[in-house]
Amino acid sequence: MSRTSDVLVVGGGIIGLVTAWRAAQKGLRVAVADPRPGGGAARVAAGMLAAVTELHYGEETLLGLNLASAERYPAFVAELEAASGQETGYRACGTLAVALDTDDRAHLRELHALQRRSGLESQWLTGRECRRLEPMLAPGVRGGLRVDGDHQVDPRRLAAALLTACERAGVAWHHGWAQSLSVVRERATGAVLADGTELTADQVVLAAGSLSGRLAGVPQDVLPPVRPVKGQVLRLTVPRAYAPFLNRTVRAVVRGSHVYLVPRENGELVVGATSEELGWDTTVTAGGVYELLRDAHELVPGITELPLTETLAGLRPGSPDNAPLLGPTALPGLHLATGHYRNGVLLTPVTGDAMAAVLAGGELPDVARPFSPLRFAPASTASPSAAVPPVCVPQEQPV
Ligand code: GLY
Repeated sequence: MSRTSDVLVVGGGIIGLVTAWRAAQKGLRVAVADPRPGGGAARVAAGMLAAVTELHYGEETLLGLNLASAERYPAFVAELEAASGQETGYRACGTLAVALDTDDRAHLRELHALQRRSGLESQWLTGRECRRLEPMLAPGVRGGLRVDGDHQVDPRRLAAALLTACERAGVAWHHGWAQSLSVVRERATGAVLADGTELTADQVVLAAGSLSGRLAGVPQDVLPPVRPVKGQVLRLTVPRAYAPFLNRTVRAVVRGSHVYLVPRENGELVVGATSEELGWDTTVTAGGVYELLRDAHELVPGITELPLTETLAGLRPGSPDNAPLLGPTALPGLHLATGHYRNGVLLTPVTGDAMAAVLAGGELPDVARPFSPLRFAPASTASPSAAVPPVCVPQEQPV
């Protein structure tokens, strides 16, 4: 059996879905191959839109992309909610990053200095000022950074809204694993599903998150260098009587380990996340849950009163420079939209726009150009104009 479209998106997580939706809006016939569209890392992610509080040394170019996407968020969710008739849980609530001991405070001071050098807005607060904003914080909080521009969205609702928007825009679904890429005369022409169904398309987008490097048939020199980076996350519920438990996202470095608490309007409180290089392992471990609860408790002691409703582990698609791979590869007809690592939810709007521009026959927009997959291509296959340098240095831990 063979089915044809203009664009075949392999992977129906939020990156694949936004690519499909935006491409369909351009008038292209789009199909998505995924056994469970709307799943993937977004099922686990907390949904922080933290361009400023997750700033890292050496990631200035990525910061530009992150800020461009954060700026698009209000209009993006308004359009998506209108197109789908569903809410995304977007909250312009701001973020507070706090320090618990002297070393944590030094770390936060460094982050503050880096933010200022990068022209970003954040305000240093004393411990007392932090507790005035968030009365549930521990008395030991030594100081913090108020970042009014870092917000949040609910990734599960975002995925559900994207699914509906895709359906309404005419995107076709193929509920199966793409097993191999089809290549004819050195051009990607589609994919074959595990059940043998052949899907043909003028253009193929590989948007399968951490699995993107495992599609058979992709030539070695264009295979995306993504790896899984495990994150364990907890979900708790704030009973109505305790609300508002927290008003904004709160994050901290607690004696060197990182924790964040993301309070939703519906009472859900997400606590994350571990960062573990363990390959494809998605086991929720006692140690992971213990560390998250220990650090969250140190930050907000009242958390132990809340019902723990869910524990989950997901896989971030890490890339060698922590930045995504967006746009055409050296194999004609094959595009990548993967490697978003810690920023998949944040980068959803700008990824959709950039991918749709390319799929409709245009160029990668300027803001996305440094993230061309060609930056990882072997010297012999990268054209001189495409051989851009890596965009940032590797960092393993989120701030
Ligand atoms: N951006 C949050 C995380 O990756 O854990």
